[in-house]
Amino acid sequence: MPRKKTSSLKPIIESDAVREAAKALVEAVRSELAQRELGPESYEKAIRRIGRQRGRPLMVPMISSGRGHGARVFLADGTRKLDFISGIGMYGFGHGDDDLLETAVAAAASDVAFQGHLLPGPEYLGLTRALLKHAGTNLKHAWLSLSGAMANENALKVIFQKHAPADRIVVFENAFHGRTLATAEMSDRPGFREGLPLRGNVLQVPFFDPDREDSIEHSVAVLEEHLHRYPDQIAGMCFELVQGEGGFKTAPREFFTALMEHCRNNGVAVWVDEVQTFARTGELFAFRTFDLEAWVDVVTVGKILQGSAMLCTKSYNPKPGLVSGTYAGSTVGMALGQRIIERMDEEGYLGLEGRVAVLGRRIEKRFESLEKRMPKAIGPRSGIGAMQAFVPWDGSPEIVSTVLHAAFEEGVILLSAGSNPSKIRMLPPVNTTDEELEACFSMLEKAMRRVAEECDLPC
Ligand SMILES: Cc1ncc(COP(=O)(O)O)c(C=O)c1O
Repeated sequence: MPRKKTSSLKPIIESDAVREAAKALVEAVRSELAQRELGPESYEKAIRRIGRQRGRPLMVPMISSGRGHGARVFLADGTRKLDFISGIGMYGFGHGDDDLLETAVAAAASDVAFQGHLLPGPEYLGLTRALLKHAGTNLKHAWLSLSGAMANENALKVIFQKHAPADRIVVFENAFHGRTLATAEMSDRPGFREGLPLRGNVLQVPFFDPDREDSIEHSVAVLEEHLHRYPDQIAGMCFELVQGEGGFKTAPREFFTALMEHCRNNGVAVWVDEVQTFARTGELFAFRTFDLEAWVDVVTVGKILQGSAMLCTKSYNPKPGLVSGTYAGSTVGMALGQRIIERMDEEGYLGLEGRVAVLGRRIEKRFESLEKRMPKAIGPRSGIGAMQAFVPWDGSPEIVSTVLHAAFEEGVILLSAGSNPSKIRMLPPVNTTDEELEACFSMLEKAMRRVAEECDLPC
């Protein structure tokens, strides 16, 4: 039989035969998993065992079955929860998405599970190309890596190399950039770096404060002070355009442009950490949602991408030897990352009227009506697109934790973020349906009414 000629670099799933076989395997795994539910006792035991093995219990007592549908995850005991935190961002297209599972299965069947920088495969090319295609005209290079923190390490290295011997980095108060030694020091969470040796090279600038009229001038003044105190020693400034762990706080464009302009005028690299914001603010890159392309030198992405990457302009292209490593990512992760970018683009998720922006507006509307019914319980809200948060009652960590616990019992997984006040955040799948939204808000309301009654709080 004559062999069909196709481009060897096209995604393998584009072959009908592979798609059909992948469908069959996904179905077979699904029905096998459905037979493997744990009874209540075994489930509790498994949760306790994970806690013992880690030396610390799970943050939320749950184990996934590996099955789910949309925003609903099926736990290993057969119960279903609405996952409105997407595994802190990685189930960005929800659970059990047929197309993504088939893409993953096909990628998994080629060679070994991971790919490196020495012998990259078609998925490596496809993902870096897809990222750069959407990153605007200035960002020319992309290096793949495994986690958000690793991408951030690469960003730090290219920035320090370009600006050597400058060795300081500016971050925002309440920032979070990861859990490696360097990124833990950049993160404003002292508890996350207890006992670690610190380099002392991180400088802080206050994030935008909507209650302060001179917030922009104040932050610029603090940056100026650092520049004055450490002339030629500051290599870069890292921006989270929507603070993730810091509480889904964002700022008007002028806040960012004022600081970025200062960075540019003083030879300081502008680095945007989009590990959490990628694909969640209306455009793939939040710096494009905020129209900041002209200032950005380095960008990092992760989470929803099923891997991570550092992108930079030509002038930040690192010298040979600085950035590499055995693993660039899993073949499955790369194939999925590329497919997720394609679907965001082709299925109407992007733009002012795109599905992510519309989802954000729908969540805001639901909060508005919940606030009308419970005006004393729903405090200030913040966020954008598929990143939304609110302060329940006084925003104390105890109240937040009580509401989260009650919401979990009602059937919805949410998480805390920020401090003083603490918030409850939603990081829902980008394809969340109206039915799922309605179910989430009805469970949240029930949970809050229960907490009001049990803790004697006003509604
Ligand atoms: C903004 C930001 N940067 C970096 C990270 C670290 O990513 P990872 O946990 O994949 O290392 C996170 C994780 O929450 C994040 O939100």
